[in-house]
Amino acid sequence: MADSAFKIVVLISGRGSNLRALVERLEVDGGRAAVAGVISDKRSAAGLEYAGSRNIPWTVVPREAGTCSAAEFNTRLADAAANYRPDLIVLAGFMRIVTVEFLQRFPQKVINIHPSLLPSFRGLRAQRQALEAGAKLAGCSVHYVTEDIDGGPIIAQAAVPVLAGDDEAALTSRILRCEHMLLPEVVLAIAKGDVCLEQNSGRMRVKTGSRLQADSEDRLFSIGEKL
Ligand code: GRF
Repeated sequence: MADSAFKIVVLISGRGSNLRALVERLEVDGGRAAVAGVISDKRSAAGLEYAGSRNIPWTVVPREAGTCSAAEFNTRLADAAANYRPDLIVLAGFMRIVTVEFLQRFPQKVINIHPSLLPSFRGLRAQRQALEAGAKLAGCSVHYVTEDIDGGPIIAQAAVPVLAGDDEAALTSRILRCEHMLLPEVVLAIAKGDVCLEQNSGRMRVKTGSRLQADSEDRLFSIGEKL
């Protein structure tokens, strides 16, 4: 990959449908932005097969229970990511917590996609949490990753309705379609320099460029499907 490319590293643990959506979108609209490498903590992750089929280099950084500390794992993870000299690191279904040992190596370069309208429903099974809370709108968020899990500055969000009769699987798949639209949109915006973080009243806020709309709080958002 040319040195002038905008290099993206994607971290996954499983299926990799967001990875696929990103790769396919970048092939059409990416310009000099491309996925330079994929890293998984699981050799069995289906997304690795997809990466291989597209000739995208991949690395496995395993973490078997009890074999190393979170800090050691994150240091190895950061070493593996650094090998690809990333401009941006995307957590897309990566089921490990990234700690300061990882984040300090890539300041303001790590983003995550989460299947809820943050700050609601952080953590695991966000879609089930939304159903249990009786939420009428659900969606996904792309945010910068900080040590505060699912709590970093929000870059963009997309909303879908929660429909009567939805179960977890139905809502999950409606949100996932939204994720496949939103994540590539945000990555393209970052690659074009349309997104930056700035200090605002003591808090880090996302400053928006032209590609995505900003709300009154300067957060980006897009609506994935008609309500
Ligand atoms: C997505 O729902 C993502 O928001 C969450 O994990 C899931 C990963 O799906 N963090 P996939 O591996 O991209 O298909």
